[in-house]
Amino acid sequence: MDALEITGGTALRGTVKVSGAKNAALPLLAVSLMGADKLTLENLPALADTNSMIELLEHHGLTVARNDETVSFSGSATNFDAPYELVAKMRASILVLGPLLARYGEARVSLPGGCAIGTRPVDLHVKAMQKLGATVELADGYIQARAPKGLTGARIVFPFVSVGATENAMMAAALARGTTELVQAAREPEIIDLATCLNAMGAKITGHGTDIITIEGVDALHSTNHQVLPDRIEAGSFAIGAAMTCGHLRLETIVPEHLESLFDVMRDAGASIKTGADWAEISASNRLQAVDIETRPYPGFATDLQAQYMAMMCLADGSSVISETIFENRFMHVPELARMGANIIVDGRSAVVKGREALKPAPVMATDLRASISLVLAALTIDGVSRVNRIYHLDRGYSRLEQKLGACGAKLQRIQT
Ligand code: EPZ
Repeated sequence: MDALEITGGTALRGTVKVSGAKNAALPLLAVSLMGADKLTLENLPALADTNSMIELLEHHGLTVARNDETVSFSGSATNFDAPYELVAKMRASILVLGPLLARYGEARVSLPGGCAIGTRPVDLHVKAMQKLGATVELADGYIQARAPKGLTGARIVFPFVSVGATENAMMAAALARGTTELVQAAREPEIIDLATCLNAMGAKITGHGTDIITIEGVDALHSTNHQVLPDRIEAGSFAIGAAMTCGHLRLETIVPEHLESLFDVMRDAGASIKTGADWAEISASNRLQAVDIETRPYPGFATDLQAQYMAMMCLADGSSVISETIFENRFMHVPELARMGANIIVDGRSAVVKGREALKPAPVMATDLRASISLVLAALTIDGVSRVNRIYHLDRGYSRLEQKLGACGAKLQRIQT
């Protein structure tokens, strides 16, 4: 297994070109199953997760042509099975359910199973397909869904916000007969990006970005070229790194509005943040102040930035309370940060972080994607050598991380353990 050896204590200074968003790319890749002809995605980040999804699409029978971060998909699915060995690697594979059902009338998708941050059920995905007229059986760890006469539009009221269930329902409804209304839909920028791509292919979706999305089904979708939107979580991770190391980073090719909730809190903590049309400059010269946060669906504070923010609060002046309202087990980074000397007390879904002047070098273990980046950011602030083990978690969601951080003065090296 790989580890990252990090010699910290140097402020991050420089410019980072942020890549395309993993959480936009994954549903957009699933859309390749829906069109009658070629779909081309540009600015597609080269990640373990996007590679896994492309492997699944080839398994379904699509032809894939890759040229760096531009990938084209053509052909039709000949196989409607998403097997356990592929889905277990990357749980967002569940997003092929809606597209396969909508275009081919059948899908057999392995239940993804849980992961480090929670049981991650997919009951809302299944219920949405049933509301659209599919028959669904759960057997042998698989979702067996059929809609031989196609799907029919319906009103689907989600009991709480689910990004993936909104995406699956929106894709399925795009080719259903009649109109679908998604109530208490997710409002994430990645939902807007997905709807924009589907509309460019001939779908009729309105309301995306609000909590009520209306989809008027069409008979077929045609080809398009779509540019994957910038990754707000990667951008936020670097912004936090700049502040934690008392450095100065310019982030380019981003959408600053997508980071508003993070930037508001960081300004309250004392960071200096300037923004332009597609860039932001983040710097901090003194120790940050402790500021409480509570994760919420967009536009609230992103759960995918909670671990990184906690690492920043470990060095803040004062105590902060961090509440995780989206996932039931997203504090796996706490014991690892504690190994670096952090003072954190977890009580249910809240963690109280008492800031310290400095953390200490230590070997730590990544447990999930966002925990791993939070440990890397913490290590960058520490005078001395720290080692973050199991960084295959990192490779799932951050492309060329060592190069991007290295270009900003970080001293890190990937080693085989
Ligand atoms: C997406 O996951 C993201 N992944 C996650 O990012 C992100 O943390 C999450 O949305 C919330 O913003 C992708 O987009 C690929 P949810 P998703 O459905 O869709 C529960 C990262 O680090 N739930 O919005 O799986 C669920 O357990 C990843 O990049 C059900 O109970 O999240 C969670 O508690 C991590 N039943 C809550 O809803 C369901 O059918 C929100 O989950 C679906 C979800």
